[in-house]
Amino acid sequence: MSDIQAPSLAPLLGQLAALLGPRGILTDPQDVLPHLSDWRALYQGRSPCVLRPASTAELAAVVKLCAAAGAPLVPQGGNTSMVGGATPDEGGRQLIVSLARLNRLRDIDPLDMTMTAEAGVIVKAAQEAAAGAGCLFPLSFGGEGTATIGGVLSTNAGGNTTVRYGNARELMLGLEVVLPDGQVVHGLRRLRKDNTGYALRHLFVGAEGTLGFITAAVLRLFPRARASEVALCAVRDEDAALALFRRFRDRDETAVRAFEYMSGTGVGFYARFIEGGSVPLATPGEHVVLVDLASSRPSSGENSGLRALMEAVLEEALEAGEVLDAAIGESEAQRAAIWRIREEHPEAQKREGASVKNDVSVPVSKTPELIRRASAACRALMPGIRPVPFGHMGDGNIHMNLQQPEGMDPAAFLARSHDIMDTVNEVVRDLGGSFSAEHGIGRLKTDMMEAWRGGAELDVMRRIKAAIDPQGIMNPGKVLP
Ligand code: MLT
Ligand code: ZN
Repeated sequence: MSDIQAPSLAPLLGQLAALLGPRGILTDPQDVLPHLSDWRALYQGRSPCVLRPASTAELAAVVKLCAAAGAPLVPQGGNTSMVGGATPDEGGRQLIVSLARLNRLRDIDPLDMTMTAEAGVIVKAAQEAAAGAGCLFPLSFGGEGTATIGGVLSTNAGGNTTVRYGNARELMLGLEVVLPDGQVVHGLRRLRKDNTGYALRHLFVGAEGTLGFITAAVLRLFPRARASEVALCAVRDEDAALALFRRFRDRDETAVRAFEYMSGTGVGFYARFIEGGSVPLATPGEHVVLVDLASSRPSSGENSGLRALMEAVLEEALEAGEVLDAAIGESEAQRAAIWRIREEHPEAQKREGASVKNDVSVPVSKTPELIRRASAACRALMPGIRPVPFGHMGDGNIHMNLQQPEGMDPAAFLARSHDIMDTVNEVVRDLGGSFSAEHGIGRLKTDMMEAWRGGAELDVMRRIKAAIDPQGIMNPGKVLP
C-alpha cells in the first residue's frame, strides 16, 4: 500500500501526542533519524515518530490506541541489534517505541539475589548497581554500555560469560509485559521455583519484540568475584585452543568465566585500527585465546588458588606445545587491556571495511572444525576473502565473520553477503549447529527460517504469533518469514 492510499496517521499521532506530552513523542525528522538505522548500517527505515512512554501504564495506553488503529509498532532499546531487529521498514508507517524512559531500577535484594529492572536500564548500569549491592549481574558483551535490559531479554543475548552463567534467558526469573492488545502481564515474581502451567515468561525472551513489550524483569544476581585472572595466549591451532579450554575446565569448571577465541587477522586489525591498541605477546601468531578465571573466594595475592591454577594449566599446555606464548595480566588495568583486544573486534573490523557477520553456534567440540572448514569454504568461494573468526569458543558460539578482499569494492562484496552466509551455514548445518546463536533473526535472517526451522517448529511459532498478536502489529517483518 502506498502512503497516498493508506489512511492518514495524523489523527492517531494527535491522540498519542495528547497522551504522552511533549517529552513522550519525537516527530522532528532530525530527532527521529538516529532511530531509523541499525548499528551496522544495513538498513535505513522510515517512521513518522518515536514514542517514548515513561511508565508501563503509559505504554499500555499507547498500545491500546495503536491496536485500535491497526498501527504497527517497533520496540527499540539501545538499538545495538546486529540483525536489524529494532529498525522500522521503509514503508514509513511503523511507529518506533523507545523504552528509554522506563529506566528505573525498581528493587535490588542481595538476600534473594535478585534485581528488578525496567526495560530501559542500560546493561552496564545494571552491572554497576549489582556491584554496589555487593553482587554480580554477569551478562557482559561489547555493547553493554548502550544495550538495555529489555533488548537483551528480547533477543536472549549471550556474550562473554555464557560459558559460566548462561544466556539472558537463564538470568531471568520474572517479567512484566505489555501485550499487543494493551493488557499487562504482571509476572515480576522473584521465585526460583514456579511451576504454574506454561512458562509464559519464556515466550517473550528471544521473541525480538514480535509478541509484546518487555517492560521490566526480575534478574538473577550472583556472588561478586573477589579474585580474577586474565591471560592472553598464542596457541598452536584451533585444536590447541579447545584443548586449553578443556584443561581449565577439567581442573576447575567453576573457575572459567570466559574463554574467547580470536584469529591473528582480527588481533592484527585491533593493533592497527584501535587507538592505543597494543598486544602483550611478542608474536601473537594465527590463533589467540583469552582466558578469564574468576572466583568469589577472596584472593590471597600471587599464591591464591586462581593464580596457581592459571600458571599450572598454562605450563602444562606450553609443555604440550599447545600454547606458544602467554601473558597474564598483573593488574586490573592490564586485565582490562587484554579484554579490550577482544571487545574492540567488531569496531576494528568495521574500520577495516566491509564485513559479513555469521553469528553461528556448533557443539563446543566442533568449534575447531567449524573455523577451519568455513574459512576454507569461503576462500574457495571468493579468493582473497579474509576470515576473521572470533568469539565464545567456551559455549560453541563463533562469530564466523568474513572481511572483504583487500582492495575490493565494499558494495560489491556486500552484494555477495547471502552467498557467503550460505557457504558458512552449509558447514554449520553439517556440524549440527545453528545459523543464529546470540544475535537473533531480526530482518537479516528471516529468509533462513524456513530452511532451518520449517515444518512443525515454524508452524507452532506462527500459531503462537497469531494467538498473541492476531493483528500482526508487533515488530512486523522480524523473526518470522
Ligand atoms: C561480539 O561478541 O563481539 C559480537 O557479538 C560479535 C560480532 O560483531 O559479530
Ligand atoms: Zn558475541
